[in-house]
Amino acid sequence: MGYDIKDPALAGQGRDRTDWAEREMPVQRLLRRRFEQERPLAGIMIGACLHITSETANLVRTLLAAGAKVALCGSNPLSTQDEVAAYLAVELEAPTFAIRGEDEATYYRHIQAVLDLHPNILIDDGADATYTLITKRPDVLAGVIGGCEETTTGVIRLRNMERDGALGYPVIAVNDADTKHLFDNRYGTGQSTIDGILRCTNILLAGKRFVVCGYGFSGRGVAMRARGMGAHVIVTEVAPVRALEAMMDGYQVMTVEQAARVGDLFVTVTGNLRVIRKEHFALMKDGAILANAGHFDVEVDKPGLGELAVSRRVIRPLVEEFTLADGRRLYLLGEGRLINLAAAEGHPASVMDMSFANQALSCVYLVQRRGQLEKRVYPVPAEVDQEIARLKLESMGVQIDSMTPEQERYARSWEEGT
Ligand code: NAI
Repeated sequence: MGYDIKDPALAGQGRDRTDWAEREMPVQRLLRRRFEQERPLAGIMIGACLHITSETANLVRTLLAAGAKVALCGSNPLSTQDEVAAYLAVELEAPTFAIRGEDEATYYRHIQAVLDLHPNILIDDGADATYTLITKRPDVLAGVIGGCEETTTGVIRLRNMERDGALGYPVIAVNDADTKHLFDNRYGTGQSTIDGILRCTNILLAGKRFVVCGYGFSGRGVAMRARGMGAHVIVTEVAPVRALEAMMDGYQVMTVEQAARVGDLFVTVTGNLRVIRKEHFALMKDGAILANAGHFDVEVDKPGLGELAVSRRVIRPLVEEFTLADGRRLYLLGEGRLINLAAAEGHPASVMDMSFANQALSCVYLVQRRGQLEKRVYPVPAEVDQEIARLKLESMGVQIDSMTPEQERYARSWEEGT
């Protein structure tokens, strides 16, 4: 069925990387064993628009064990690990269309190549593939059972599609499962965002004024880990409750305009657009560093920064220096794309183990309820969430208590009080 990857000869390296990640993915291993017996996805074609990383390759191994066929494209032009793409295409024989650094036209051509294979289920990360399928590929729509969405930004887009009557099939909001966003968005984005910033700058965080725009699940993680490395963390928000939470978690809270004057390093993680823009660049200190961990590269206003600059150069890999008319220099990391994937390796396998367990089990759920679901965004069933947490704890050798019958009765009662 073909592929479009950088170099098939990298497949062995991709297999090694995938094996390394698998060590931290016990839930995937357990699911795989179960699926090999039950084959719940036999005959199902799955299209996956995901970051092409070693963790994703482990999800593919699980889906193949369940009997599915899988075709993949990247969900971001800068996040593909070319050796993993080679492993997927050559050794797992999963048609893969992804090359690190591909331009936008190639990115969309790759999405179309996956849709050409007529997936029955579309796993998406950011909803670009879903959008393309629904708006441009009516020929594919009839065979689609449903979809699964990996990230906050994608779920927001899909809910907006549902509201406007544009959603062509049922979708499971995998991002919203507790065993996804409480761990992946918080601990995964938290650690790997810091990792990306350090890999491409090698700066010392201790003592820096580190501004986090957005105190959602990802922002909380970034702030927590930056503080752990000795940075003075400042949070900016638009939601009063989140801002209050950041205050009581011990951070300084202020507007982006106020933060622009004092920050050494800025990380956007809001899912919104032009959070840091021209009027803020105008106030920043010489040497300020800008990075984004939100899904799309729209949170730092790159075109605005380009317009203000009198010159620009790439000073280190993934670090671009913009010199402004008054001589101040601002540094944009990873082209403003999600820095944890552009400059590091994305989330550690241990959290993707749970996120992708939600993906695999949601695919099974969609197949089992084929034809029964409406064109809506559905939550991951609570029992799936509980099961994944239970399996993860079990794999960590952790035991927890269960309620006694008396406690269960008490928890359900309303008669007993003071
Ligand atoms: P969330 O919805 O939990 O949090 C976003 C926060 O940003 C909210 O508290 C919101 O009030 C705030 N916000 C919105 N506009 C703002 C503005 N103009 N200024 C300051 N704050 C603003 O979302 P979550 O899960 O934290 O995701 C945030 C983004 O990160 C999304 O685009 C999501 O898709 C992406 N993401 C990226 C990951 C990665 O690997 N880099 C992993 C997980 C999520």
